[in-house]
Amino acid sequence: MLRGGKVGLRARHEDDIPILRTELYDDVVNGSRAEGGPWRPITPGSKDPRLVPDDKEQGVVPFSVVELNGGTLVGTATLWGIDTHNRSAHIGLGLLPGARGQGYGTDVVAVLCHYGFIVRGLQRLQIETLSDNTAMLRSAERNGFVREGVLRSSAWVLGEFLDEVVLGLLAHEWKPDATA
Ligand SMILES: CC(C)(COP(=O)(O)OP(=O)(O)OC[C@H]1O[C@@H](n2cnc3c(N)ncnc32)[C@H](O)[C@@H]1OP(=O)(O)O)[C@@H](O)C(=O)NCCC(=O)NCCS
Repeated sequence: MLRGGKVGLRARHEDDIPILRTELYDDVVNGSRAEGGPWRPITPGSKDPRLVPDDKEQGVVPFSVVELNGGTLVGTATLWGIDTHNRSAHIGLGLLPGARGQGYGTDVVAVLCHYGFIVRGLQRLQIETLSDNTAMLRSAERNGFVREGVLRSSAWVLGEFLDEVVLGLLAHEWKPDATA
């Protein structure tokens, strides 16, 4: 398990799946804002890769996020779009509603940076998020990510086009203890 100050990132366990499906992926608003595509219901027992990772898929590393204190599941985190030629990847995360606003998101980004830069030897990490997602923007910026651009009206979200912000962080810019 990868450890931050408050959270751990570990493999997906069978018990995580119904909790993630009902508390995270059944939420139409959260799914529409976070997935970059239309929300669809996930059938119980489905092998949807958001719930049941394919360990042979080299371009994506999915984690379950747990509280270090007690091990309760609080969300998901993913390193995706791993490009071993350009040594870059994207990061994504989603916390269960009851776990938001307690500093966990900032800590998850810190742990994903450690995994990307130290464990995987990547040179660049990128995040895309809606321009009104203050919690995601702050979680990234607290870890040193800088806003590199705005993709105007790039996301169709529940009846309107919204802007997305692209943030990037390079390995030499990263300060591991920035959020400690
Ligand atoms: C986005 C998300 C991962 C952030 O994690 P979090 O644990 O809620 O965020 P933190 O508690 O670490 O807070 C980070 C910063 O955002 C601020 N913040 C938190 N919730 C906020 C809110 N609802 N509105 C405005 N600011 C907020 C905090 O005050 C903190 O600011 P600071 O660094 O200036 O002190 C989490 O809220 C989440 O899972 N949201 C739903 C899914 C989602 O949006 N995923 C990202 C898709 S790209």
